[in-house]
Amino acid sequence: MLIQEFISKEISAEVNEVSFSWESPSNIALVKYWGKNLDQTPKNPSISFTLSDCKTTTSVLFKKIKNTSKIIDFELFFEGERNISFRTKIEKFFSTIVAYCPFLLNYHLTISSSNSFPHSSGIASSASAMSALSLCIMSLEKELTLIDDEFFYKKASFISRIGSGSACRSIYGGINFWGTHSDFSFGSDLYSTQISKSISSKFHNYRDAILIIDEGKKEVSSSVGHELMNDNPFSQIRFKLAKNNISKLMKILESGNLNEFCNLVESEALMLHSLMMSSTPSYVLMKPATLSVINLIREFRKDSNIPVCFTLDAGANVHILFPENFSQEVINFIKKKLSVFCVKQKYILDFIGTGPKQI
Ligand code: PMV
Repeated sequence: MLIQEFISKEISAEVNEVSFSWESPSNIALVKYWGKNLDQTPKNPSISFTLSDCKTTTSVLFKKIKNTSKIIDFELFFEGERNISFRTKIEKFFSTIVAYCPFLLNYHLTISSSNSFPHSSGIASSASAMSALSLCIMSLEKELTLIDDEFFYKKASFISRIGSGSACRSIYGGINFWGTHSDFSFGSDLYSTQISKSISSKFHNYRDAILIIDEGKKEVSSSVGHELMNDNPFSQIRFKLAKNNISKLMKILESGNLNEFCNLVESEALMLHSLMMSSTPSYVLMKPATLSVINLIREFRKDSNIPVCFTLDAGANVHILFPENFSQEVINFIKKKLSVFCVKQKYILDFIGTGPKQI
């Protein structure tokens, strides 16, 4: 079923050739999205921090063509080279969004993309990549039709979600909410909403240090992971717990209780991994180094009283979250105690960012 609100309006301008570039960041979920419906809506709401320096830069050159087919015509370059491995994902994305952006059929798209983070660092790039591409497409829609800024970003989030669920949360900076929840009047399963009011100043410029523990390709794609939730024996209780955690986290974000923040965020990360361990087939996505790092972070928190905690994506790398005023102590700790667990001692220092930028 098509969502009427997002079908592009009548074209009111003639554009033969134009190029747009956007850089869009990755994001890290605090309450995780894990499990989805066929229409790429989530089984439970999620909340994330939008990052700053871990980003994808994408330029799209749109050239008018005569296309009589119903397939969007494009070529794809990644880090300067023609790319075939991401092509299938983009083809699938285009085959769904063409109903919302039919004007794309009139153009040949040359898409050139690159990531700020090392190519095979094991950092999920689909959120930054899909949001950057969606913003370029929306820039063309804005050129061709009459839309305001609010709709521009809302539809960018809507189409990003179709490419990669978590990408919809990268469209806005700060802290983002995706999904619906009976406690809150805002929120949609179709796009994300920035949580702008009543956030404690303790979360301003919050830091995320990403420890690269595994550089390899993800052992299991997130699409497969989401699908495993359909038969996971704990799925219903998980969806309920995620909703409870959203209520708790919203209160924590307002109160600035960082001890509660650490407990909740770590529990979410471990629950995500326990779901992978209890799926059929099952997956252990942590490496021995992941566990060593987790234990050291907990020890450091206890000994130093610094509210530093970890979270994980569906992989072995560890995100370390901490308030900006403890940067020096935590970075020293990472250098001295944790970097030995990283591939070539690699880690990335990032922080909550202001969202995508047109360049
Ligand atoms: O957006 P996807 O389909 O790559 O799924 C992302 C899933 C997690 O990163 C594990 C959690 C999340 O909410 O981002």
